[in-house]
Amino acid sequence: MTEVKKIAVIAGDGIGPEVVAEAIKVMKRTEELFGLKFEFEHGLFGGVAIDEKGTPLPQETLEICKRADAVLLGAVGGPKWDNNSKELRPETGLLGIRKELGLFSNLRPAVVFDCLKDASTLKPEVLEGTDLIVVRELTGGIYFGEKFRREGAYGEEAVDTCVYNVTEVERIVRQAFEVAQKRRKKLASVDKANVLETSRLWRETVNRIAPDYPDVEVEHVLVDNCAMQLLRRPSSFDVIVTENMFGDILSDEAAMLTGSIGMLSSASLGEGSFGLYEPVHGSAPDIAGQGVANPIATILSVALMYRLTFGYGEAADAIERAVKQVLDAGNRTGDIATDRAQALSTTEMGDLIANALEGAA
Ligand code: NAI
Ligand code: MG
Repeated sequence: MTEVKKIAVIAGDGIGPEVVAEAIKVMKRTEELFGLKFEFEHGLFGGVAIDEKGTPLPQETLEICKRADAVLLGAVGGPKWDNNSKELRPETGLLGIRKELGLFSNLRPAVVFDCLKDASTLKPEVLEGTDLIVVRELTGGIYFGEKFRREGAYGEEAVDTCVYNVTEVERIVRQAFEVAQKRRKKLASVDKANVLETSRLWRETVNRIAPDYPDVEVEHVLVDNCAMQLLRRPSSFDVIVTENMFGDILSDEAAMLTGSIGMLSSASLGEGSFGLYEPVHGSAPDIAGQGVANPIATILSVALMYRLTFGYGEAADAIERAVKQVLDAGNRTGDIATDRAQALSTTEMGDLIANALEGAA
């Protein structure tokens, strides 16, 4: 008997429900094709939860997530809630859910589809074959360190502190090694060890645990150099692991290699196999309700879920191949179309990918 996996579905606001519906369509098709079995439990989250429950992250939704094996999230936010107080803002729910679920790392793949490589601002020959993933530490470093103002000898001073302990570094680096083992087995650890003490601890930790992963080839890259190499030789990277602020910047840089925000998936992980999977894009209020959003980012997030949480590698590969097939055949949603008049709707794109799975399996 196939083990039933519990999926918490929090579709959220704007295009969230539209793209999540297509991802579920694809999951249901993989149940038939690969003998998988999922149980979906839906929860309110974000603006819609504020409207109905008076809080962006209701306790009930949190419970649904905690008893699930993985979470599929759409997007939250929109102009309706922009002027709310902090506790009543959808984004506060996002930070809350990451914290409550202990998700300390964020993974963002940047994959360049050959047929879309002219969508990027970089030269196609530079992008060819790019398929990398940035693993960013999410709950430590300078964003969370002590911050204050004081009066100094030359006037007002502002102080931000960057703190990492060895436990925080070790858990994310181990996770990155494990991700690399499931991919092309290359890990680039990015730091600024020539000047920062936290980076020296980072590098020592990587070197100390590297022998536990003898099949993974490790490279240390200084962050400024990495910023350059991402533009010069993006296809040479497999997994990049780095601390919070460097990861924030580098993951956005890597995202732009691919051209469209409607294509980018992400995973947030904690200890163990549990993870939260979501598109990188937001709720796109400008196109919400029109049925034109690109569902591919959310569908590719399902492929990540299969690979990283469930070890369903074959089904994950099939989803990625199905997406590629459908794009190679010239099918486009509005955000990636050259001729908008020919653009497909959200459900048409979802149907094509779900149908292509059989051939890609
Ligand atoms: P956004 O990503 O929602 O939209 C930026 C632009 O990209 C828009 O023109 C939108 O139409 C387009 N776009 C985004 N996803 C698309 C898709 N799947 N298909 C086609 N076009 C797509 O970012 P924006 O406009 O800055 O934020 C809108 C709302 O979303 C805000 O309330 C923001 O706080 C929230 N947001 C939520 C996130 C999350 O839930 N993780 C992440 C980013 C923003
Ligand atoms: Mg999102």
